[in-house]
Amino acid sequence: MLPAYPIIDHEYDVIVVGAGGAGLRACLGLAESGLNTACITKVFPTRSHTVAAQGGISAALGNMGEDDWRWHMFDTVKGSDWLGDQNAIEFMCKEAADAITELERYGVPFSRTEDGRIHQRAFGGMTTHYGKQQAERTCCAVDRTGHAILHTLYQQSLKHRTEFFVEYFALDLIMDTGVCTGVMAWCLDDGSLHRFSAKVVILATGGYGRVYFSATSAHTCTGDGNAMALRAGLPLQDAEFVQFHPTGIYRSGCLITEGARGEGGYLVNADGERFMERYAPNAKDLASRDVVSRSMTVEIRNGNGVGPKKDHLHLHLEHIGAEVLHERLPGLTETAKIFAGVDVTREPIPVLPTVHYNMGGVPTNCEGEALTLGPDGSDRVVPGLMAVGEGACVSVHGANRLGSNSLLDLVVFGRAAARRAVVLCAQTDRRLPRRDAGDEAVGRLDQIRHATGALGTASLRLQMQETMQNDCAVFRTHETLTEGLRKLTELQQDFDELMISDRSLVWNTDLVEALELDNMLQQARVTVHSALYRTESRGAHWREDFPNRDDENWLKHTLVWHDDTGAIQIAYRPVHLGTLTDDVETIVPEVRVY
Ligand code: FUM
Repeated sequence: MLPAYPIIDHEYDVIVVGAGGAGLRACLGLAESGLNTACITKVFPTRSHTVAAQGGISAALGNMGEDDWRWHMFDTVKGSDWLGDQNAIEFMCKEAADAITELERYGVPFSRTEDGRIHQRAFGGMTTHYGKQQAERTCCAVDRTGHAILHTLYQQSLKHRTEFFVEYFALDLIMDTGVCTGVMAWCLDDGSLHRFSAKVVILATGGYGRVYFSATSAHTCTGDGNAMALRAGLPLQDAEFVQFHPTGIYRSGCLITEGARGEGGYLVNADGERFMERYAPNAKDLASRDVVSRSMTVEIRNGNGVGPKKDHLHLHLEHIGAEVLHERLPGLTETAKIFAGVDVTREPIPVLPTVHYNMGGVPTNCEGEALTLGPDGSDRVVPGLMAVGEGACVSVHGANRLGSNSLLDLVVFGRAAARRAVVLCAQTDRRLPRRDAGDEAVGRLDQIRHATGALGTASLRLQMQETMQNDCAVFRTHETLTEGLRKLTELQQDFDELMISDRSLVWNTDLVEALELDNMLQQARVTVHSALYRTESRGAHWREDFPNRDDENWLKHTLVWHDDTGAIQIAYRPVHLGTLTDDVETIVPEVRVY
């Protein structure tokens, strides 16, 4: 029998879970429209992981030369290795300029050109004239663009009276016969439990990079919303596509922005060779991230790495000059000093491909409504549930995201979701909780809180992270993935033997970490499972045993969910190749040329 946990009830029009760029942009749009909006977040909003985004946000403004949103769309479709949905990509690229103007008016302090326009830098995979020349399309606020956007959106959300529930850990969705009616949350500060009822719940909980050992993601990136969706019996889409950023600092994994290569930085191997010239003769160091990460891994495997263990590579920036580095890349300069002990004006930075982004997530339509499979296998909207940001899969990034398209995704789809939620709220009656609503979530919390096994969270988490790092890496095979799945299944069983030493509910970080581990384990399994089944190579998913892209059989999205027994189920849905309007034509998959 469950001990009595007093529950505090709340009722809002919309609950947004997560206060990164996507969540805050949604909050702002909702609150501006007069909706009663609450935001639940496990960290203080300006500590959300968007704060770490460095290089910039893409939009074909054409401030540095000719540009066109259609070229941006072409690059994004191609960068996605044709797995991105072209209706969603069209929507994002077309809305981009307007989204940037809006951010500027809200107060984002963008870097400027001599004549006062927003400065734009080169980023990987961004071209003009359909692949002919390198584009300068990435708008930046030096190398702290995410920081600038996040602070501005938080201030604007406060101005429009969004209510924030800060340091509240979202436990689970409240589902009532297939409809999402709210969220259960635990207040970390005083230990109280809260039941939030709403007409619409928007998940904006970010990615789950921390399932890997080395990640640029904050330690809070545990994909809590995705795990809540899985526990509600809903699918995740395209989880096998995990992006490795080419330049994480060796050992610490801290991000060195792609903007560094956009400003002229280049990679070398132990012989001092600019090896990217061999792998991608045109784009070189600014090839898309999947290409650069694989090339680096091959160099290291071939014994061309630097350092005593030959296990990393060097990024040179010295030639750019101290003045430019200080003006355009000050954050990077500081990060390299602190985390690698390197003065970038004199020495190269030791770097290694590091997990950076999840292309997959909760499947949604272009307006942010969560999708599941209907009984006939077609898409069905999950009433009351929406998702935005890295935790969602709309899918604009397909199999590989282009750098600086993530911040754009956050603001464009955060705004679109707010607009849609306004309409949905007008059509929906109050959703009042059933008497037993949330009991299952409380039961799960109680069970983990009182776990009396012998295994510590940190040790299980480390084993999961090492498994993912070794068995579901840049290169994968049937053998590594099968081995990874075996180990993760064992770890899932070990989770039942967990030991929690702190039983309190007030700032119990032991319990928080265990809940996060539970969330991550589910996503790790879904990721490896999806990767095992996809017997082709596309974007960030590279199967050494199936090295070709196979459009005939695999131009489709993976959907994975847990059935009632906890077993993993898998299905597929078509890629949306049709465009949204007649302004542009479908971009037909090209033969892969690197
Ligand atoms: O390299 C970077 O600055 C990262 C940008 C991104 O992932 O979009």
